[in-house]
Amino acid sequence: MSHIHLIIGARPNYMKADPVYKALAATAQFQLTLVHTGQHYDHRMSQLFFDELGMQEPDITLEVGSGSHGAQTARILERYEKVLLESQPDLVMVFGDVNSTVACALAAVKLHIPVAHVEAGLRSYDSRMPEEINRVLTDQIANILFITALDARDNLLKEGKIAESIHFVGNTMIDSLQTFKEHFNRSKIYERLKLTSAFALITLHRPSNVDDRSKLEELVSALEEVTGKLDCVFPVHPRTRKNLGQFRLLERLNNNPRFHLIDPLGYIDFMRLQRDAAIVITDSGGIQEESTCFGVPCLTVRENTERPVTITNGTNHLIGTDYRRIPAEVRQVLETDSVPKRIPERWDGQAAQRIAQILLKQDLTLFFN
Ligand code: UD1
Repeated sequence: MSHIHLIIGARPNYMKADPVYKALAATAQFQLTLVHTGQHYDHRMSQLFFDELGMQEPDITLEVGSGSHGAQTARILERYEKVLLESQPDLVMVFGDVNSTVACALAAVKLHIPVAHVEAGLRSYDSRMPEEINRVLTDQIANILFITALDARDNLLKEGKIAESIHFVGNTMIDSLQTFKEHFNRSKIYERLKLTSAFALITLHRPSNVDDRSKLEELVSALEEVTGKLDCVFPVHPRTRKNLGQFRLLERLNNNPRFHLIDPLGYIDFMRLQRDAAIVITDSGGIQEESTCFGVPCLTVRENTERPVTITNGTNHLIGTDYRRIPAEVRQVLETDSVPKRIPERWDGQAAQRIAQILLKQDLTLFFN
């Protein structure tokens, strides 16, 4: 029986890994170990998701906590290597593009343990983005590449990966959306926030948007203008909250009755809001994909996206980082966005099943011989 480690560490990993863990467990053909690096550790960034998704508790926790990119990545690498030396799995599965993804992949291949990367091949071609570095490096060293969309295959082939290592399985985060969609109505978030009118859902946490004082001030002013038209619900990432506080912007937002500045939400509350929002304004990766599945217009406040299928097929609009444009973009999208959208191919709730079927047939001893 092959032994597989599944690596999670930060918030976007849980909903991507959970369906894969469950699909692999259902085959009863694998020994599974869930490893949590502890990159995210606040209750609302971690444990809450285990409770809501009914997710297996981690078997191993590395408790690395926060730090600079170098320090955090190095801590994960060092601690996970020790685990690998003791545990000797046959395969390590990593998810997405966070620091835990690249660090654990590197620890594994150095010990000649094969790596599978779920959500491989996404490229923004923006090397100032930490996640882009994590993606490129992880894919270079990974042996099995599970992709969410066909543009990822082209990116990987261009970088010299062989076609046989690439598997177009679909999107495991959308598996979670499909599995839990009946639960979204149970959320009590409307009552909690006393929401009665149409609203924009906002998430912004990328260092490039929230770490610089004048940029964050400009962003806040643009969002204040949006409240002239819509309520704004903004579940704030710890990084963003810290900066809003430091730059004395928190009070301004808290004093605006149409602005709901709240702590990070769990999966069910967040997905309910996303499903029902008039529009989503975000710099997240995953939310571009989920909003496409919900058919909710999404304004992505970035200069590029690694998820172009959400624009060609879906509801995503890449609006750049001239924040003064946000109110006009919101107006325009709400008034004109009536083009029928298509959910991308294989985003059908079956991606994790496809991964399980592929791994059942895969000879894991091939890679380092
Ligand atoms: C990480 C991912 C990013 C992902 C995001 C989702 C990397 C490089 N980035 O960014 O791709 O979109 O997670 O949330 O891996 N903090 C807390 N509590 C926590 C976690 C973090 O207070 O539980 C604070 C700390 O001050 C920390 C900061 O947030 O320094 C940033 O956390 P970190 O894990 O370094 O990166 P994220 O910005 O969360």
